Amino acid sequence: MGRVRRLPTDLINQIAAGEVVERPASVVKELAENSVDAGATRVTVRLVRGGCANITVIDDGCGMSREDALTCLERHATSKLVDAEGLFHILTKGFRGEAIPAIASVSRFCLVTSEPEALAGTKLSIEGGGEPVVEDAPAVGGTRIDVDDLFFNVPARRKFLKREATELLHCEDAVTRLALAHPEVGFTLEHEGKQIWASPPSASEPMQRAAAVLGSEAAPHLLSISERRLGLTVTGFIAAPEFTLSSARGLMTFVNHRYVRDRGLTSAIQRAYQDSLPPGRQPVALVFIELDPAAVDVNVHPQKLEVRFSDPRSVQEAVGAAVSVALKAAPWRQDSRGPETPQVQAQYAQAIERFLARAQPAPAFLEPAMPLSLDQSLGRTSFGTARPTLDTAPPRNYFGALRFLSVLSRRFWLTESPAGSLVIVDPRAVEERVIWSALATRFQKGELAAAGRTLFSARLDLVPTERTRVLEAAPELLEVGVEVEDFGTGSLSLLRVPAELERVDPGAWLVETAAASDASARIAVMARRAALTAEIMVTHDQARARLEALDEVAAQVHAHAARVIVRDLPVLDLEG
Ligand SMILES: Nc1ncnc2c1ncn2[C@@H]1O[C@H](COP(=O)(O)OP(=O)(O)OP(=O)(O)O)[C@@H](O)[C@H]1O
Ligand SMILES: [Mg+2]
Repeated sequence: MGRVRRLPTDLINQIAAGEVVERPASVVKELAENSVDAGATRVTVRLVRGGCANITVIDDGCGMSREDALTCLERHATSKLVDAEGLFHILTKGFRGEAIPAIASVSRFCLVTSEPEALAGTKLSIEGGGEPVVEDAPAVGGTRIDVDDLFFNVPARRKFLKREATELLHCEDAVTRLALAHPEVGFTLEHEGKQIWASPPSASEPMQRAAAVLGSEAAPHLLSISERRLGLTVTGFIAAPEFTLSSARGLMTFVNHRYVRDRGLTSAIQRAYQDSLPPGRQPVALVFIELDPAAVDVNVHPQKLEVRFSDPRSVQEAVGAAVSVALKAAPWRQDSRGPETPQVQAQYAQAIERFLARAQPAPAFLEPAMPLSLDQSLGRTSFGTARPTLDTAPPRNYFGALRFLSVLSRRFWLTESPAGSLVIVDPRAVEERVIWSALATRFQKGELAAAGRTLFSARLDLVPTERTRVLEAAPELLEVGVEVEDFGTGSLSLLRVPAELERVDPGAWLVETAAASDASARIAVMARRAALTAEIMVTHDQARARLEALDEVAAQVHAHAARVIVRDLPVLDLEG
């Protein structure tokens, strides 16, 4: 007998599974995609222990006859592709005919399925590949697949699985990405019996689906994009630049209803945002590209996560244009008044002076401070064109020398510099710098992590996905002085926070802090959130104290995204 032998089918399948099934999320992706391909209107995904112990996917799609169900267990068996020509007309998620046999070869697999009008269904069970056990089953009007103990027979793979919370996050991503690509299908995701995410069919309201995935914080900042060219459309939603994330998690691209990772597309989006983002921040953008399937090769990646365009440049160009157009039209930019020359600046100063001369000297500090909601401070009413005039470190004692005049629009402080110019200060930005500096200093000395628990502790009810995210980041949060503990029953306890954040509603900042990429990003988020409670309607003395505090930390100011002193004022509209 020769040395070269054909491998047994089970081993072939296991090898194939190595490419297709990397972790529980891959199973979730493949099964849920099959459900969508089967025309399901609702897909339910249930997980136990982050998908490591069990993954169940239930759909109300077209189901399978017994014959088809048996065939689908075979490698290279598919209903979605007939010939080579078909590879360039693919509109289904699947086409390779390998997901089901691959999954069945590395798990305890059970499939129950029936066609719509059928009176009875079929149940097939397989343990780590091999021959299926075939049984009759009641009609289920669709398909239900249970995948238990993934990699039970491949211990080497099992070792590569991460913490259950991490695997759960990946599963969530798999579901939400598919949900974004298919707003017409309703999705439900449950973990250990609890619903952690759901979205009803929302084809007529794609914004709803986008908001359901991106969360309520991003929703008010979303702008629609749309660019139509011959044979190519780009649609979707992007967040205005005042809403950013510390990672590229919110940046997703879809090609013909398939989530894909594509560096060229991602860079095109990032380039379109270019200068509008603070350093180190990433935009939020859901970009859907539709083009002739013949102009894109979907068969270039075993998990179908990448594609190859026949003309990548024009696709990138269209995507960039779609994002740029939306950004230009964004409400936060409409006050923009072109490049400022020194003359224009002088005109501004004069206009503001004239306005101030007419204005009543307002006893601003007598008015009650207006509570500012997050929307007001970060949302569309925000002072979008505000740009720092200080992009290098300010001169020594610059801020302390400013003379406070009044409060403008309950948002800004009008001050006069010793040189006689009008300087507009954003007090929340001042507060942010001061807090940021305090936190960063204590962090560097290790004091944030070492601080003892306060008496203060709060119970917090978060959406389960957010709760998972926060608990997952518990060790990293501890480094920046935030201690959380699982309280069970869907909530968590906040045992310790840095003093600067005690007055701030933790629901608003904790999740974003947990999601930040590293300690310095976490500190930046906390500072920004804490600064939102800054007093704006202050007395002269209070303003001076804050500005002097800013001088103390001024050297660090420009290291952190500076947004302290602004010009380019809508107040010009009042010029009579
Ligand atoms: N939930 C389902 N409902 C109805 N039919 C299904 C379902 N899941 C799988 N099938 C059938 O089983 C076949 C094999 O599925 P499998 O996922 O292995 O391959 P595929 O989807 O064709 O290609 P790929 O490997 O790229 O996913 C499918 O082509 C489809 O006909
Ligand atoms: Mg498939």
